[in-house]
Amino acid sequence: MKRVKITAPAVAKMKGARKISVLTAYNAPIARLLDRAGVPIILVGDSVGMVEAGYDSTLPVTMDEMVYHTRAVARASEYALVVGDMPFLSYQVSIEDAKRNAGRLIKEGSADAVKLEGGRRSAETIRAICDMDVPVMGHIGLTPQSVLRLGGYKVQGRGGSEAEILMEDALAVEEAGAFALVLECIPEGLAVEITEKLSIPTIGIGAGSGTDGQVMVVNDILGLTAEADSPKFVRRYADLETIILTAVEAFTRDVIKGAFPSGKESYK
Ligand code: KIV
Repeated sequence: MKRVKITAPAVAKMKGARKISVLTAYNAPIARLLDRAGVPIILVGDSVGMVEAGYDSTLPVTMDEMVYHTRAVARASEYALVVGDMPFLSYQVSIEDAKRNAGRLIKEGSADAVKLEGGRRSAETIRAICDMDVPVMGHIGLTPQSVLRLGGYKVQGRGGSEAEILMEDALAVEEAGAFALVLECIPEGLAVEITEKLSIPTIGIGAGSGTDGQVMVVNDILGLTAEADSPKFVRRYADLETIILTAVEAFTRDVIKGAFPSGKESYK
């Protein structure tokens, strides 16, 4: 049965009706599987820089790289809403830059929406992109592009004044027109307060179970990142590292023994 493609307004309406599962993807084969499994939102995160390219932060990721990965994911996604992440320096310098780069993710990357980090300081930018009719997902709390200022990947919003600032950030993002908001690494009580206050869905990562949805980095849930490096909030649903290692070692053994290819695997 052909499924109806998820849209940004459809996501906004999910608040209170159903929980929203969101996963990242960076390439077509994984995106195809997520789409087939019925994941409603696929985020082409700038986490690609850390989990695929091996950088120690998301800061080096470029617009051209995001366009490339977003296009691959979009080509494989019939059902899911594809959200392209705006990398560092693609929206911070000027509103004009931000509009052009958001437009690139839509026009060249075939994304259905874009995501960018920041609360009040990004509100004007979010409004400008929404004014071009491009749906925007916000992202506050632990914003990885702020790692140099934050001094590491740490829980945000602990303590009264930090929590108040995050609440103001959340309201500013909603006011600016975003259709959903990622809350990363904040105390679960604060995530519930923000979720109750906003009329747009909140998507948590390390923010407890009280948000409207949950997002995870797909490599983390599939066991493709080192367990020791995984934050506390990650749950591994598979151990692809072991499966891949076993397959690759078996192939190499067969090649060394001359057991691959067999007659059946050769042309006559
Ligand atoms: O880049 C990313 O994957 C993200 C999610 C973890 C929210 O921003």
